[in-house]
Amino acid sequence: MRMRSLCALAAPAILITSFLLMAPVATRAQESENPYTTRLDVRMGQRLYQQQCGRCHGQDGGGGELGPALDEGFRNASTDAGLFRIVREGIPNTQMIGISRNATDQSAWMVVSFLNSLNNTADVDLPGNASNGQQLFAGKGNCSSCHMLNGTGGRRGPELTAIGSRRDPEELRASLTDPNDDVPPRWWTVRVTREDGSVVEGLRMNEDTFSLRIMDENEDLWSFLKGSVQSHERVKTSIMPDASDTLTVEELDDLIAYLFSLKREDI
Ligand code: HEC
Ligand code: HEC
Repeated sequence: MRMRSLCALAAPAILITSFLLMAPVATRAQESENPYTTRLDVRMGQRLYQQQCGRCHGQDGGGGELGPALDEGFRNASTDAGLFRIVREGIPNTQMIGISRNATDQSAWMVVSFLNSLNNTADVDLPGNASNGQQLFAGKGNCSSCHMLNGTGGRRGPELTAIGSRRDPEELRASLTDPNDDVPPRWWTVRVTREDGSVVEGLRMNEDTFSLRIMDENEDLWSFLKGSVQSHERVKTSIMPDASDTLTVEELDDLIAYLFSLKREDI
């Protein structure tokens, strides 16, 4: 992935030219760098992928009867722009039809981000020690109190079993040290103030017009009728603490090495 973006930097002129020559609709403003690469974009891309692509390429991108695996690099594209074009236009004279006609360019870029996330297996030399990281995860880091890994751990954060297949080391570092950046709605908190003034806070599990169900820090579920509480508000920050407050630089490196080693194949 890193190589691909380097290429895109080194040869923007060539890319743009080939775009103009190859794109059937040359008037569409197109970029050679993917503008949509945040964790949230990857998730949106994954959702689109599962709706439109998974039936041929497998829901996890591992390949299916009708389409090749997409987690082992790409034969037909060596840049993000090339990948974008395939997602957008399909591959002529093959079963590969690409994203639906009325999808936006933004959606196509998000799918590109998701496809890249499937290929984050590059051999990177990480400074950390993965087995130290494993100890920190359950021990000093207290990560398993919120995160499920191979069937054990808490449910107050995302499952991390194959996190190394979905995130590269830089993204992992950002998750650990800047948890409030880009918190997906699924992980927002709801703060309920009851009639007697007492406050209950937790992750939003269910909500409809009249009622609200949240899970507090002990993983206890609470149900409220909206009409019978003083107020309820959403808190869009993450409940995850900044790991750099409690861990040393070396310990962070160790955790990142550990998380990055957790690949899909290991399950
Ligand atoms: C009807 C089945 C089908 C659907 C739906 C489909 N594909 Fe494909 N896709 C294929 C086939 C078959 C190929 C191989 C084409 C060839 O090169 O012969 C392919 C090739 C590709 C490639 C190139 C792989 C490489 O190694 O270069 C990418 C990337 C890709 N598809 C992504 C997607 C995405 C993203 C979607 C959803 C927006 C999607 N496909 C939907 C069947 C499908
Ligand atoms: C109090 C609960 C809590 C603790 C403790 C916690 N996390 Fe999290 N973590 C979350 C929540 C909630 C999210 C999702 C929201 C966000 O992105 O911050 C998250 C997100 C993450 C992500 C991003 C996952 C993804 O799909 O991109 C990683 C990686 C992660 N945590 C690792 C850790 C590690 C390693 C530790 C221990 C040092 C830790 N977490 C401690 C709650 C927690």
